[in-house]
Amino acid sequence: MTGPQTANTQAWDRYGSHHLRKKTAAPPIPDTIRWAFGTAGPGTEVLGPLAGRRVLELGCGTGRYAAHLAHHHHAHVTGVESSLAQYQRAVSFYGSVPGLTLVRADAVDYLQQADTFDVIISIHGALCFTPPSLLLPGVFTTLRPGGLLAASVLHTNYRGHGPSQTVEPSPQRLQITGQAPDTVYRWVLTPTLWRRLLAEHGLAVTSVDHINSDADDDPTSCCLIRATRDQR
Ligand SMILES: C[S@@+](CC[C@H](N)C(=O)[O-])C[C@H]1O[C@@H](n2cnc3c(N)ncnc32)[C@H](O)[C@@H]1O
Repeated sequence: MTGPQTANTQAWDRYGSHHLRKKTAAPPIPDTIRWAFGTAGPGTEVLGPLAGRRVLELGCGTGRYAAHLAHHHHAHVTGVESSLAQYQRAVSFYGSVPGLTLVRADAVDYLQQADTFDVIISIHGALCFTPPSLLLPGVFTTLRPGGLLAASVLHTNYRGHGPSQTVEPSPQRLQITGQAPDTVYRWVLTPTLWRRLLAEHGLAVTSVDHINSDADDDPTSCCLIRATRDQR
């Protein structure tokens, strides 16, 4: 693993361990996907019909959205999470949801041996926390030809800073309630750069939705990127 991947897994592990210690309760299964923060933006409908489809979430965290897709949309969902503590939370919260499989692995490693999926999603997940040159080849081989990739990424951070015009990660704040913020490394790139990187890996971007926070004093802006795998 690269330095940023290791640092991210360790930071998310500290985050998850904090919540395990606090015994933070399982939230109910959400009734839609929120691609951005707050209530702004489109929901699960951007993924199209899901019943019976094979869906992979890269960086599923507590598994809430993977559980949502299995429970409310009857998809066959696999959620992959690299942090042990986050994975443990996901298993304890939603491990018994029918149609949901939870895997503890780094997304790069998982994609090297995975079966194919109809849809791959990353909701502020592995796509923005992993070197694109390592992750995107596996996304291409794992997505069926014509399949959909949908990913939300930061466009600007909570200070309104970003995005980067070069393929470099930037340090970003990870807030842990009641503690000093931790640091994670995210690829916060321009939509042009995401388009180019995805195209280089056989993924044609079909839309980029900008979603601003709905709180007046929050300059955070996100992008929901959708792309289809070419038919090669
Ligand atoms: C911001 S959380 C989002 C979790 C979930 N998608 C949600 O919206 O609730 C990001 C999660 O992605 C995981 N993650 C980051 N990079 C990853 C990678 N390369 N492989 C697997 N999981 C990863 C982190 O450990 C963390 O739990």
